[in-house]
Amino acid sequence: MIDGKVMVTGGAGYIGSHAVLALLDAGYEVVVIDNLVTGFSWAIDRRAAFVEMAVEDVNLRNVMAEHRVRAVMHFAGSVVVPESVADPLKYYRNNTAATRSLIESAVAAGVPHFIFSSTAATYGTPERVPVAESDPTRPINPYGMSKLMTEAMLRDVAAAHPINYACLRYFNVAGADPQGRSGQSTVGATHLIKIAVEAATGKRDSVAVFGTDFPTRDGTGVRDYIHVTDLAEAHVAALKLLVERPDESHILNAGYGRGFSVLEVLDAVDRVTNMTIRRKLEGRRAGDPAELVADNGAILKTLDWAPQRDDLEGIVRDALAWERTLAERGR
Ligand code: UFG
Repeated sequence: MIDGKVMVTGGAGYIGSHAVLALLDAGYEVVVIDNLVTGFSWAIDRRAAFVEMAVEDVNLRNVMAEHRVRAVMHFAGSVVVPESVADPLKYYRNNTAATRSLIESAVAAGVPHFIFSSTAATYGTPERVPVAESDPTRPINPYGMSKLMTEAMLRDVAAAHPINYACLRYFNVAGADPQGRSGQSTVGATHLIKIAVEAATGKRDSVAVFGTDFPTRDGTGVRDYIHVTDLAEAHVAALKLLVERPDESHILNAGYGRGFSVLEVLDAVDRVTNMTIRRKLEGRRAGDPAELVADNGAILKTLDWAPQRDDLEGIVRDALAWERTLAERGR
């Protein structure tokens, strides 16, 4: 445990709100920073302190001092890949430049640990699958590049200042808190499992399958889907390691090391709901790699963490339960 709070930026968002739950459940004290542009204040657990502020605000260093922040977990940012292609400067502002300011605040306030939400998009189209942390990072969109630039900043800052860091490169995050306290609530989400459970609850009448001619077992794209609660717990484990070993920093893939195709995901949703979702076979989406699966050897070896929810139907069940909660709330 640490003597002070963990600052969670983007704590009102999807992954951030689950990290807040994991930290609080593990006994940490938390202060959430969120500007509520895409997050929801109702998603912030009442046990956490909340400051509505942008991460680039220079006053953040005062908030860090007031709350005796000992670690930052940085989730705030923009996350839609096609939008990053259309509006790259938004991504370099919200992800890269804003994070630069946040890191500067952390250094000024003497915060010793920093955990960053990175992404498999830093690899671009991987040369081999499963892809390992030491493989080339050649992002094929501004989203991936904006995150890779942040990884570079953290490396350089940790070499110059008394701060260590962990970058977790997320694969496909899905599901919801098994206790039903949070979930993916974004309106207009583009992620497959979210879209499929929206179809299952009648919010959409079909699901588009983007590409049926990939060199995969059934021709559709293969991804490594990780339960958001496992991912949140990996952040808590990363924090423990940073505290125990202040001279080390880590870049780790966060995935399960196995992939499912789009059709396999939709079949799982059908089994869970006992319905048949209508599939519309369409052409490939620009920039989609055929297969993206994590080599997760490093995270398993480095962190005191192991997947607890590596079960596609379980992920779908939790996502669906949350979607029903949203429907009941009229959202
Ligand atoms: N897909 C469909 N139909 C849909 C939505 C998605 O067939 O309606 C397919 C995609 O083509 C892909 C798979 O389902 O094969 C997963 O797509 P998602 O949009 O759910 O996720 P991505 O793999 O595109 O995106 C993920 C992360 C991003 C990250 C990216 C890196 O969510 O943050 O991987 O490639 F940038």
